[in-house]
Amino acid sequence: MIPLITTATASQAAYIVAALLFILALAGLSKHETAKVGNSFGIAGMAVALAATIALTIDLDIKGSSFALLVAAMVVGAAIGLQRARVVEMTGMPELIALLHSFVGLAAVLVGWNGYLLVEHEPDGAEALHLDALGTLGIHHAEVFIGVFIGAVTFTGSIVANLKLSAKISSAPLMLPGKNLINLGALAAFVGLTVWFCLDPQLWLLIAVTIIALALGWHLVASIGGGDMPVVVSMLNSYSGWAAAASGFLLENNLLIITGALVGSSGAYLSYIMCKAMNRSFISVIAGGFGIEAGPGDDKDYGEHREMNAEQVAELLGDASSVIITPGYGMAVAQAQYGVAELTRKLREKGVNVRFGIHPVAGRLPGHMNVLLAEAKVPYDIVLEMDEINDDFDDTDVVLVIGANDTVNPAAAEDPTSPIAGMPVLTVWEANNVIVFKRSMASGYAGVQNPLFFRDNSAMLFGDAKDRVEDILRAL
Ligand code: TAP
Repeated sequence: MIPLITTATASQAAYIVAALLFILALAGLSKHETAKVGNSFGIAGMAVALAATIALTIDLDIKGSSFALLVAAMVVGAAIGLQRARVVEMTGMPELIALLHSFVGLAAVLVGWNGYLLVEHEPDGAEALHLDALGTLGIHHAEVFIGVFIGAVTFTGSIVANLKLSAKISSAPLMLPGKNLINLGALAAFVGLTVWFCLDPQLWLLIAVTIIALALGWHLVASIGGGDMPVVVSMLNSYSGWAAAASGFLLENNLLIITGALVGSSGAYLSYIMCKAMNRSFISVIAGGFGIEAGPGDDKDYGEHREMNAEQVAELLGDASSVIITPGYGMAVAQAQYGVAELTRKLREKGVNVRFGIHPVAGRLPGHMNVLLAEAKVPYDIVLEMDEINDDFDDTDVVLVIGANDTVNPAAAEDPTSPIAGMPVLTVWEANNVIVFKRSMASGYAGVQNPLFFRDNSAMLFGDAKDRVEDILRAL
């Protein structure tokens, strides 16, 4: 006899296919050349997962009104998502991603609360869901509590990250007295309350953990300085994955558990790699700047800066035989990459050795500068990573720092009291001449003054980077 294929078994099979597609998507996204294919795998996986989930819902014989709600939510969500994806600037991607993580966190909190109201709060809830008193019911208590905690931390943490990244609040770290004790106290309270809730699932315990977790998420991310925000974004990515996995356990949805674990572990690994690249302690960053205390305020007098105009820079470039360009966030804001590519082409035609030095966190998202330069058709072989080019600065005639600031700050290497001390930077100051393109003497993303601007071999070229590059092109 042929076994009957039910919607439930077909959906589980579809879930496995979707999970495989998600794994292929991650594999594809790990390399430039395969990123587009990886993206397509991800889209296909999500389409399969959605179709299977809708089929499952219909099979559960839910009311027509609930189904209409599901469709309405999907239509509204898809419309907002499409619109945001179309209009978002590349420089705005990290803050958008942070906002999306906050939705995952909020969803996990709502799923947890829903689980509680359905089971623990409802006298017959456990029986209706066939949960026996000692075994699965106890696990259900823990799933509700842990899911709500991770979700709430992710929710407020992501909102603070979004506000910091969009410069709606200061990116400087919040330094409350005894901040490490606050974090540790909140964690200890969570552990204690979890045990209590598993023994006696009272409503006030769930309310208490929700409030504690919301406050902890806010405090954790507010305590992290602007320079460490790239790590925070990938860390929140990881938290949102674990929040989704926790919801998966509650909803008994295998796909949510698998994808949650994939996102959680890949986000954690990315955070670890970034910390290593920026010489940060992983534990210190994920624990909200644990162990980092406020350094002395930066009111040092660095002296006078020197200015040059575009004609003078063109003259300097005309005499140079080696040039390194170190782009940063300002190049992205000004959309100067096309002019920079044109300048590169002209200089190379004159026989100048032009190369690019790319810092791992230049701009606002991993690979930001590489994407912009590839867009402007700068040849790949002259675009070098920081480690590949750092030894060559002392042999270079001119360095053009185009809209970069924190990533070329000598204080990171020379001042142990600096908030970015220890972060590897491009050692541009070792070159014979350094020209810094920016609009003012304002500090960079980490809010730290840059002594590079005041060095004898440095000169400022003020104005919008795109306009100034075009001025140089004309003068050349
Ligand atoms: P930043 O330190 O952010 O400095 C950018 C500089 O560009 C600013 O000092 C600004 O000065 C200048 N600028 C802005 N618009 C400009 C324009 N139109 N024309 C010319 N200059 C302009 O840049 P960075 O060196 O690339 O460092 C990146 C920072 O962002 C690091 O602190 C990093 O940790 C953080 N971050 C990175 C990521 C990733 S993953 N890459 C994610 C989040 C945060 P003016 O205002 O004076 O013009």
